[in-house]
Amino acid sequence: MRIDIISVVPDLLKSPFEASILKRAVEANLVEVHLHNLRDYTSDNYKSVDDYQFGGGAGMVMTIEPIDKCISKLKSEREYDEVIYMTPDGEVLNQGMANRLSLKGNLIILCGHYKGVDQRVRDHFITKEISIGDYVLSGGELGAAVLCDAIIRLIPGVLGNETSALTDSFQDNLLAPPIYTRPRSYKGWEVPELLFSGNFPKIEEWREAQALERTKTRRPDLLQE
Ligand code: ADE
Repeated sequence: MRIDIISVVPDLLKSPFEASILKRAVEANLVEVHLHNLRDYTSDNYKSVDDYQFGGGAGMVMTIEPIDKCISKLKSEREYDEVIYMTPDGEVLNQGMANRLSLKGNLIILCGHYKGVDQRVRDHFITKEISIGDYVLSGGELGAAVLCDAIIRLIPGVLGNETSALTDSFQDNLLAPPIYTRPRSYKGWEVPELLFSGNFPKIEEWREAQALERTKTRRPDLLQE
């Protein structure tokens, strides 16, 4: 998989790919992540990427030309499956979306800033608009980092234990059950006895019941889907 991220502050996106699981995925060539500074695609001395809104109103709007130049250059080099725009009014990211995107080959992610981009960018270049939740960030970069993390960890070979992504919360519309590790007793707080029974069908049954119970109390909306 290859992900090209277009941003006015690409530095904001460096560190997520320089540590831990994402770093290992990049080093193992399971994913290529390329950051593009939109200012490199401007043609004026000020390298401006935004302008006042037609019709008046507060806030600047990202202009179409540098975005067109950057996306067109990338598209002239390879085919892309999706050109994604990070925006609070996009479709809210969930595990199903992450699963589907993890199967794609090449993605472009455009990070919005200021008030957002000229609507014609969305009309003519963008194939998918994604929000990471119902709150407004100062730009799309942190959203793009969240999206990339959710996608990349699902690429086969990225997680050490191939099965562990399958037992994540949300994979079957259920939250994950409680988990425990050593020590067995800490300050008198005990691990449930059943987990030491060696009765794996019973343990599995307990985990499923716990997952269902957690989902019912914390996220009943998931059970309605
Ligand atoms: N840009 C600003 N807010 C955002 C959000 N909630 N999701 C994705 N991109 C954004």
